Amino acid sequence: MKQFEETVKFLKKQYKHKPQVGIVLGSGLGKFIEAIEVEKEVAYENIPHFPVSTVQGHKSKLIFGKLSGKTVVAMAGRFHYYEGYTARDIVFPVRVMKLLGIETLLLSNAAGGVNPSFKVGDIMIIKDHISFFTANPLIGKNIGDFGPRFPDMSEPYKKHLIQKAKEIAAKNNFDVKEGVYVAVTGPTFETRAEYKLIYVLGGDVVGMSTVQESIIANHMGLDVFAVSVVTDVGIRDEENKITHEEVLEAAKHAEPKLATIFKELVASI
Ligand code: HPA
Repeated sequence: MKQFEETVKFLKKQYKHKPQVGIVLGSGLGKFIEAIEVEKEVAYENIPHFPVSTVQGHKSKLIFGKLSGKTVVAMAGRFHYYEGYTARDIVFPVRVMKLLGIETLLLSNAAGGVNPSFKVGDIMIIKDHISFFTANPLIGKNIGDFGPRFPDMSEPYKKHLIQKAKEIAAKNNFDVKEGVYVAVTGPTFETRAEYKLIYVLGGDVVGMSTVQESIIANHMGLDVFAVSVVTDVGIRDEENKITHEEVLEAAKHAEPKLATIFKELVASI
């Protein structure tokens, strides 16, 4: 707990107000930051005990400010298992955000579609996830101050937030999918056989993030909402090479829809 206390003490000195909502932005989805009335930015590299993000397309700073009249803290740039961090490192900032006072966590990510009805640019509200193919951040000694040894995961993404997000999409005349996110370690995109397997297992999209943050947030009793932007479709039979550039480009295009959902969701909280 000592590390957490040092980090929280440092951040409270930087920004006096208590954030109510935490936001984590996925690859190519950082433009959303512009929707936030920024009051304070702190680069990860200046925050004690914070890991530093290494991926292109990630800005690597913690942003404090107002969104839809609420005080929020947003991570521009998240940590991924494939970068070489431990699962515990990845979730360090989420625990810090909880200690700063957040009650709700909004997550976004770029993901590959495996449901054949999904198209590039679709937005999918995550209603459930499969985390077995990556590391669980709660492995190791349990920190009882954060939550129980064996946390319940029956509602990893809160139904009332999902319902609200669907209403927001309908009101703004855009379509949203709903489905299951399957987490993998990356950094390789999946083979054809792997995309097929993920679909057979009940997945609708596959990605390299989000579940560790969701698990840790659930452990601490936060309300979690998460959304994927489908940036490529892996299940096709034809020639189908996937690049990081293509993922970033598709994310950028779909970003306004995600921004609408997050803004209006925060207003409703
Ligand atoms: N697979 C895994 N992660 C991803 C993908 C994908 O196809 N697209 C974006 N993130």
